[in-house]
Amino acid sequence: MVTKTVDLRSDTVTKPTEAMRAAMASAEVDDDVLCFDPTAVRLESTMARITGKEAALFVPSGTMGNLISVLVHCEVRGSEVILGDNCHIHIYENGGISTIGGVHPRPVKNNEDGTMDIDRIEAAIRDPSGEIVYPTTRLICLENTHANSGGRCLSVEYTDQVGELAKKYGLKLHIDGARLFNAATALGVPVDRLVRAADSVSVCLSKGLGAPVGSVIVGSADFIKKARRLRKTLGGGMRQVGILCAAALVALQENVAKLEHDHKKARVLAEGINQIKGLMVDVASVETNIIYFDIEEGFHMTVPKLCKKLEEHGILVMPETASRIRLVMHHQISASDVQYVISCFQSAMTWVPEENGM
Ligand SMILES: Cc1ncc(COP(=O)(O)O)c(C=O)c1O
Repeated sequence: MVTKTVDLRSDTVTKPTEAMRAAMASAEVDDDVLCFDPTAVRLESTMARITGKEAALFVPSGTMGNLISVLVHCEVRGSEVILGDNCHIHIYENGGISTIGGVHPRPVKNNEDGTMDIDRIEAAIRDPSGEIVYPTTRLICLENTHANSGGRCLSVEYTDQVGELAKKYGLKLHIDGARLFNAATALGVPVDRLVRAADSVSVCLSKGLGAPVGSVIVGSADFIKKARRLRKTLGGGMRQVGILCAAALVALQENVAKLEHDHKKARVLAEGINQIKGLMVDVASVETNIIYFDIEEGFHMTVPKLCKKLEEHGILVMPETASRIRLVMHHQISASDVQYVISCFQSAMTWVPEENGM
């Protein structure tokens, strides 16, 4: 009989806190499509200030935040964007930049730490005076933290270097900052410094920050004016959206300071799992709240079997490949939950197939 659930599938699974629900219930609202919702305005000005940009816009999701940002920077169909071959926009956003925006992706190899080599980015930039057969490069996209690399952080120095390269060629720089606050926390730098080189950033409120819904995109006043129009085109203009923004404002107040603890809990969990026979984690690569671990080749345990055994103890995880599982730490997992999870992993991995008639 399972008595509790420890949900490590993602940081998107958190439930709104009591304070968030109270703020939602009492939020001052108005029509945000007409730009009159005072709580949305408050959230947007708060996010613009934190990120050091002129303006901000609440959007329903990170996917829409990235799509709008790419499309505003690449106004002309047939524009090209340079992005990582392992980044979220390229892999998990339904190819929206192409299917909806007519933007061509130019993937550059992502290194294990989520960076792309600067010389590879430079080599991928099209020569505007070159052959007419090439699309025109207009944008470079980074992702910080880089989810598929295990939540690794891109440094200020690296981001600045890519920003300088973009400027040199007259390109824009967009950052998918779904977990930007995790990156700033782990690096120990202010958020605005980390994204100074970027022309736009998309920040998710419903991941590490723990709000129930939404993202915010930030950039220049002109960029946000165009983004607002595009949001309406895509059906993302909402009316009394202050109800959602109120929860996000609480998330900013309550949860940013908890990210450091989430990262510590993630490291404790990674170290614990790494000590279990048959499981392997690159502990040094756990910089924020995401952990990838592998089952040793030839070990008598499979990903589906391990997921099932953990589920019997109320532990939910995300299978990634035939040998790999992802865990994501968040503020609703306690330090004692982490110890419970480690002990359940230990007992699951001591399961012997022969003794169980398999
Ligand atoms: C790095 C990254 N960017 C963007 C997104 C998209 O966010 P949403 O699921 O809110 O559309 C995600 C979602 O997991 C993500 O991990």
